[in-house]
Amino acid sequence: MATLRLGDVAPDFTAQSSEGEINFHEYLGDGWGVLFSHPADYTPVCTTELGTVAKYKEEFEKRNAKVIALSVDGLESHKGWINDINETQNTTVNFPIIADEDRKVSELYDMIHPNADATLTVRSVYVIGPDKTVKLIITYPASTGRNFDELLRVIDSLQLTAYHKVATPANWQHGEEVVISPAITNEEAETMFTKGFKEVKPYLRLTPQPNLN
Ligand code: BEZ
Repeated sequence: MATLRLGDVAPDFTAQSSEGEINFHEYLGDGWGVLFSHPADYTPVCTTELGTVAKYKEEFEKRNAKVIALSVDGLESHKGWINDINETQNTTVNFPIIADEDRKVSELYDMIHPNADATLTVRSVYVIGPDKTVKLIITYPASTGRNFDELLRVIDSLQLTAYHKVATPANWQHGEEVVISPAITNEEAETMFTKGFKEVKPYLRLTPQPNLN
């Protein structure tokens, strides 16, 4: 398969999931999407990750983002494991988990890295925009659980920078100052950023986050 890169259209697929058959693009609708893979069912790190995502459902909904997980185990395995996640993580899994037994989706999204593990998926995350293109790719090894606060932070940045001519600096959090895109002249910035801006250097200009009152 060709390498999937930022800006590419996220490949569409139809697959079985813990919530029935899903067509990926239809499932995403007009909103944002997060597709993330797991090495395997009944594994400790994955159990904590899926419990965490279930607890963050409202946060994803606030950002108009739908989540969908994947592992290469089958539907029966997913169902039993979901019971364990609900019990041990004190939550209810409220999003679909794809049963990718034939590795069709894993291969489409390059989620198997053979030099790390020949058969299991690594911890991939794809954020898809409303235009169905890939906005973010993150890959973690099996032994490191993901930071879902970071994922929400990145979605905030992606959504802000998709609609305003700004970028977000290191460690930026929602509500903090942002940087003005270098392509914008100071004259344009004066009309575009009504809260004003600070010019630290000609290429480093800071302005309050534009989509807040
Ligand atoms: C886990 O999810 O706990 C895990 C899966 C594969 C390898 C190591 C850890």
